[in-house]
Amino acid sequence: MTDPAHKAEDVQTVMITGAAAGIGAGVAAGFANLGANLVLADIDEEELASLDNNLTARGVDVLASRTDVTSAAGLKALVNAAVERFSGIDVLVVAAGGFSGSKTIEEVSDEEWEAGVALNLSSAFKTARAVVPVMKRARAGRIIMISSASGRMPTNVAAGVCYYAASKAGLLGLTRVLAIELGPYGVTVNAVAPGTTYTERVAKFRSLETFDRIAETVPLGRISTVEEQVGPILFLASPPARYITGATLDVNGGRLML
Ligand SMILES: NC(=O)c1ccc[n+]([C@@H]2O[C@H](COP(=O)([O-])OP(=O)(O)OC[C@H]3O[C@@H](n4cnc5c(N)ncnc54)[C@H](O)[C@@H]3O)[C@@H](O)[C@H]2O)c1
Repeated sequence: MTDPAHKAEDVQTVMITGAAAGIGAGVAAGFANLGANLVLADIDEEELASLDNNLTARGVDVLASRTDVTSAAGLKALVNAAVERFSGIDVLVVAAGGFSGSKTIEEVSDEEWEAGVALNLSSAFKTARAVVPVMKRARAGRIIMISSASGRMPTNVAAGVCYYAASKAGLLGLTRVLAIELGPYGVTVNAVAPGTTYTERVAKFRSLETFDRIAETVPLGRISTVEEQVGPILFLASPPARYITGATLDVNGGRLML
């Protein structure tokens, strides 16, 4: 439902990568509720088309594109199309990423390492690099990177895989340097580091028993819902967050306190 307090001239354009499922799809729904125009990138054409149809039926202006975030050319083409359609991009949420099971370092091949870093870290660099000129021109913008509690402090209950934790930690370094580079242009750059969040992807490789063991390490006693990750992301894009930049917002039910 569109926020009744929302004014037409405030309509924002929000670009979300990994938008077709999980946290990215939740973020798309959250910004749609605020009346934003959406630029959605994902490689899952079927899920993307279904989300596009649902949002369009609700009156949301959507540019949905099968864009692989590991392709700099694809990202550039999408950003150009978004600027042509909406004349700018106010908010970028980098949500594409993930891994599909735990492995030790000796089980990870060179190819898996390269692909894991390409998806979870280099893609964020390429996406931000494509969007930054647009935000610099506007002298305004919000960039929000979805890192992970694994990038802050992995635990032996849910350690995952080395390339994932390394990439998600790397994202925090990228966030901080971009915050310094882009601060003079009025662009904030922050990261959200979710704890384990129930999405279909995670449910495919984590057993219910593992979810229970993870929940036992969380002071709030349960893993996160997608909605509980979306709220903090919307906050970082909102006017009250205008003076926050270079920060990492831990959204993990208290599992990690820094
Ligand atoms: N779910 C969790 O427990 C959790 C915890 C911490 C951080 N995160 C992070 O949150 C983000 C979303 O995770 P999720 O669990 O919602 O995942 P998800 O798999 O449900 O959604 C990720 C989306 O990214 C898309 N995608 C994958 N590769 C892509 C590519 N090369 N180009 C474009 N799109 C691509 C997928 O098709 C999918 O739609 C990821 O960055 C993940 O690392 C998730």
